[in-house]
Amino acid sequence: IGYTGTRANQDVVDVLLNGLSGLEYRGYDSTGVAVANSSISVYKREGELSALEETLSDETLDGFAGIGHTRWSTHGQPSDTNAHPHTDCSGRIAVVHNGIIENYQELREALGANGHRFDSETDTEVIPHLIETALEQGDDFETAFRRAVDRLDGSYAVAAIGAERETVYATRNRSPLVLGIGDDGNYLASDVPAFLEYTDRVVYLEDGQVAVMEQSDIEIINENGVPVNMPVETISWDPEDAGKSGYDHYMLKEIYEQPHAIRECLRGRPQTIDESITIDELEDLPRPERIHFVACGTSYHASMYASRLFRERGIPATAFFASEYDVDAIPVDEETLVVGVTQSGETADTLAALRDAKKVGAGTLAVTNVVGSSAARETDRVMYIRAGPEIGVAATKTFASQQAALAMLSSAITGSCSREFVDALRALSDQMQSILDDSSAKEIAEEYVDSDAYFFIGRGYNAPVALEGALKMKEISYKHAEGFPAGELKHGPLALVTERTPVFPLLTSDANYEKMIGNIKEVESRGAPVIAVTDAEERVEPLADHVLRIPKTDRRLTPILMNVQLQLVSYWVANRLDRSIDKPRNLAKSVTVE
Ligand code: G6P
Repeated sequence: IGYTGTRANQDVVDVLLNGLSGLEYRGYDSTGVAVANSSISVYKREGELSALEETLSDETLDGFAGIGHTRWSTHGQPSDTNAHPHTDCSGRIAVVHNGIIENYQELREALGANGHRFDSETDTEVIPHLIETALEQGDDFETAFRRAVDRLDGSYAVAAIGAERETVYATRNRSPLVLGIGDDGNYLASDVPAFLEYTDRVVYLEDGQVAVMEQSDIEIINENGVPVNMPVETISWDPEDAGKSGYDHYMLKEIYEQPHAIRECLRGRPQTIDESITIDELEDLPRPERIHFVACGTSYHASMYASRLFRERGIPATAFFASEYDVDAIPVDEETLVVGVTQSGETADTLAALRDAKKVGAGTLAVTNVVGSSAARETDRVMYIRAGPEIGVAATKTFASQQAALAMLSSAITGSCSREFVDALRALSDQMQSILDDSSAKEIAEEYVDSDAYFFIGRGYNAPVALEGALKMKEISYKHAEGFPAGELKHGPLALVTERTPVFPLLTSDANYEKMIGNIKEVESRGAPVIAVTDAEERVEPLADHVLRIPKTDRRLTPILMNVQLQLVSYWVANRLDRSIDKPRNLAKSVTVE
């Protein structure tokens, strides 16, 4: 959030704190504000916004312009020091930033060699120092800001203030930033809820544009330094719903965030030049004799998927429910790599399994979404899936990112990777978008909302997604749903199949295709409606009542796409039933008891 203005009876800090409370869903491990009033006053606190509010409750902080931030760590643990805003050596420039500066190490070293000292472990801190360097060379603030930003590689939304100025400077590259035009001041934020209580007139900044935000005016300048006119839009949301960016539920928002999440997960990891996948955090990881995945719920399904991938690529791998993992019975030794797959990094069952593994000398690795989480801290190594915060209790985008991360992990550890595989990974994001643009899942949900139960079947790489499809349906619709490896259907579950139980076969044009067709016939002859999720629509259409399409991809990546259709079906069934989708009864996002 950034603000400059003259709101009567309300100081800049109130505007910033209100703004941050509207953004807290984006991150919540530390917060901070900086205010310009001839000097720069900075207040930062680890923890939720309430901690910062408490610190500021005794302060009167007058100022003309300010910036604030609520952090979701990517570089450096959550702490007071790593919280934003960050300042330069003189303490007269303050910056907040979302995203990741990929070349920050290099910049930090170059700045360090010129005498700059850094307080935090963040990538962000290079930005105020770069601005300071340009100012020292005689640039005005706007030019200095632009020159600093020109040196950044990566994704970012950045806002900066200077001690003597009423101006807030901002820019973006592949990270959201929106400007709000008010009657008594102007606003900027990474999302509209931050300032919707003050104004509903907004301008969406585009990549590469710089906004120079004054109290009464905002100038937008394009990459070539030329001022441009951008359309002013009026937001029609209710401030109450705005945290969901206009979506009815966080879950739906998070489903739609998947193309972005996948892009973030892949960023910088596949190196097309030599057709390999390198994961910096895993450098020098020895090739293990065997891999054990330990996980719960949705993360267990991602682990099932990953273990097949590793086995196919030559390393024996097994997925275990973390709560069932028993290092003595299995047994586990130094040659074993135990991988805890956990979105939150706090699931007690998974942490317990990782601790047991560590005790008997196994190597441990956390694949998690949350920087500084217990799993990240307690394991030997950590690979972040970079999905961004997930609020809905039912895991959606983190499952997609876990699968993509684990697919890369298997390439990195086994050294088996082709240009085609990297290209297929890179194409996933746009392919997911095409599924999200298709309304078929919603129509299916409408048609089958009154069913007695839902069955999901798949083979090979698609089997874990069948389980995940059923879990999602159960969690949010409270309907009976089961997922099976398709071959198991005839060994029992077929007894449950009737004309009131739609079956979702997940099939792709691979070696399992003919067997899957056999399974479709088995359920069809019992009268069950068949809704096939497939990349082979021409072949499957005559055999199924309905088809949910997915684009063609590498056979090892189909589950990532299939699952998006299943998420949408579950969501729309639950929505029609008016369920508490973001907070289903009896469930918690993070289960910290064994
Ligand atoms: C809870 C959540 C599930 C999640 C599981 C594992 O049960 O409700 O959605 O899959 O925990 O969570 P983790 O954070 O370890 O991935």
